[in-house]
Amino acid sequence: MRPIDMTPYQPYAKMGSTCELREIRNKKVVWPLVDHIDLDNPNFRLRTITHSDLDAVAGLWRASYPEVYGSVHEWILDPDAYKERVAFAEHWEEHAAARPHAVMVGEDLNAGKIVMSSIYTKWDQNLQVEASFIAIHPDARKGRIAGSIWSNLASFYQWLEASGAEYVTVFCETWHNITQYIWFKRLGWKIAGIFPGNYTRWAGGSKEYRGCTIHFYRFLNDGDKFSAQPGEWDLMPEVKELWNFMEKINAESREEGL
Ligand SMILES: CC(C)(COP(=O)(O)OP(=O)(O)OC[C@H]1O[C@@H](n2cnc3c(N)ncnc32)[C@H](O)[C@@H]1OP(=O)(O)O)[C@@H](O)C(=O)NCCC(=O)NCCS
Repeated sequence: MRPIDMTPYQPYAKMGSTCELREIRNKKVVWPLVDHIDLDNPNFRLRTITHSDLDAVAGLWRASYPEVYGSVHEWILDPDAYKERVAFAEHWEEHAAARPHAVMVGEDLNAGKIVMSSIYTKWDQNLQVEASFIAIHPDARKGRIAGSIWSNLASFYQWLEASGAEYVTVFCETWHNITQYIWFKRLGWKIAGIFPGNYTRWAGGSKEYRGCTIHFYRFLNDGDKFSAQPGEWDLMPEVKELWNFMEKINAESREEGL
């Protein structure tokens, strides 16, 4: 926190009457180190990225998520771009708190191949983690290894609680609805909104368009205790109507597990 004298000022309205208040402090999300062999499928290992994975991981994104080419997320296609941003297993003590992105990879131990990659982004002072990207290599979709990927990722969200994050978000692309289904029906996250035209996305060749993303959220570590409740939100009638409808839909969100 910066040493700014705020005593001459005050918030616009008195807020926080429907939730707990706490002292402002310096906050940190600390990435948990992951290295996990699936008990049900010892051929599958979920682990934190190392430097030697970089070419395979960037290659997996090029094959599985080329839509980010030319966008603010293009860096995931370039192995060199990871070096300064991502927390690497070899430098865990130095990187776990300091680096803004964590990358978990899934390895098919029989084939000796990275078959899944997932990228997480954190904002320390907001105690927020965004599950930014997930892809399974086209050769590994469906079948036993895909099942292991989803069941192990579900447990990764429990491990995320150990990071200290209290607000987790994800955006799902709209060229299919697979991830919307998984986050809503199986992980039980709630819809936060529909963002038409949110990110530029590659349309093939030299063309791009602005894609629509669906945003989901979930509280961890008692984050909801410190969140102002609808009773004190000042909403215009149309927005209130929208919120009520979203709550009706969000009541359908279930944690069915994976
Ligand atoms: C998204 C991705 C990771 C999904 O992996 P996948 O193995 O192809 O996913 P599946 O289609 O097997 O779906 C997994 C499970 O979710 C369920 N599911 C997904 N979408 C569903 C839907 N619309 N309705 C019902 N069930 C659905 C199914 O139960 C399925 O399990 P099943 O095999 O028992 O049917 C993969 O397609 C990928 O890497 N795509 C490219 C990158 C990408 O699009 N990333 C996400 C951007 S938001």
